[in-house]
Amino acid sequence: MKGIILAGGTGTRLHPVTLAVSKQLLPVHGKPMIYYPMSVLMLAGIREILIICAPEYHDQFRRLLGDGSRLGLELSYAVQVTPKGLPEAFTIGAEHIGSDSVALVLGDNIFHGSSFSSVLEENSADVDGCVLFGYPVSDPERYGVGETDEQGRLISLEEKPVRPRSNRAITGLYFYDNDVVDIAKNLCPSARGELEITDLNRNYLDRGKARLVDLGRGFAWLDTGTHQSLTQAGQYVQVIEERQGVSIACLEEVALRKGFIDADTCYRLGEELAKSEYGRYVMRVAQEFRDVPALPYV
Ligand code: TTP
Repeated sequence: MKGIILAGGTGTRLHPVTLAVSKQLLPVHGKPMIYYPMSVLMLAGIREILIICAPEYHDQFRRLLGDGSRLGLELSYAVQVTPKGLPEAFTIGAEHIGSDSVALVLGDNIFHGSSFSSVLEENSADVDGCVLFGYPVSDPERYGVGETDEQGRLISLEEKPVRPRSNRAITGLYFYDNDVVDIAKNLCPSARGELEITDLNRNYLDRGKARLVDLGRGFAWLDTGTHQSLTQAGQYVQVIEERQGVSIACLEEVALRKGFIDADTCYRLGEELAKSEYGRYVMRVAQEFRDVPALPYV
C-alpha cells in the first residue's frame, strides 16, 4: 500500500499565522504538525509516501523531511496548485499509486489511541473497496457522517447533515483500492466548485464496497484547523506525554519500533538534535531498545 499526506490548503481559519507559513508545519507541542499524520502512515507499515503541499511550501517540507531514507522511508513530493478538494490527491498522486492500494491522511489530523498500529495494519491488508474511520463527536452536523450495519458495512453517508443519522464523523484517514484513481479522475466538482471526498466515498457506498471502522470513544481524533483546536491539540499531546513519559508521533521512535531503522541509526538521529528535548527522547528510546528486548509498538 502507498501513502499520501495531503498538506496543501490555505489555512484561512488560521490567518494571519498561515499567511506566510504552511499550517502543517506549525508546531503541535514540540513537533511539526505533519509528524502526526506521517506517524499514522508509518504505523500502518507504509514506507512509500507522497507529500502533497502548496507550491510555496514545497522547499520547506523537503528541508524538514528530505527523501525519508534516514527513517527507512521513500518520500516524494508533489504540489497542488490550488486547493480543489481532497480527491485531487489521487489524480496528482496517480503515478505514485501505480497499481497499488493507497492510504490518504490529511496533514492536519492527529490520531492517538491504544493498539492503533494493529487497527491500521489489519485494515490496510488487501483493501477491497474503501475503509473509512469513524469517530464519535458531539457535533456530527459539522462533518461527513457515516452509519453502519452490524458487520461494519457503511449504509449511509451524509455531508454536514442537519439531522445526523449517527454521531460517527468520518475522519481524515482513508484506505482505498486502486479503483480510486479512476473514480477521482471522473468526479465532478460540487456546487462549491470543489471535488468532494464524500462524493468519491459514495461511489464505493453505492457499490456496497465501503466499510467504516469505529475508532471508539477511548481514542483521540483531533483537528487543528482553528486556533482553539490547535491549542487544544497541543495541550492534549502535552498532558499525555508528560503523564506517560512517552512521545506521540516521534518519527524516529516509530521507525525503530516498526523495524524500518536499527537502534544505532535511531540513536545517531537523536544525537543530531541532542540540544532539544525531542532529540534526547530519541536517544533514550534507542538506548532502551538496545538494552531491553523490543516490545511491539502499541
Ligand atoms: P481544510 O481544513 O478543509 O482546509 P484548509 O487547511 O485550507 O483550512 P481552512 O478551512 O482554514 O481554509 O483542509 C483539511 C486538510 O486537507 C488540510 O490539511 C489541508 C488539506 N487540503 C488540501 O491539501 N487540499 C485541498 O484541496 C483541501 C480542500 C484540503
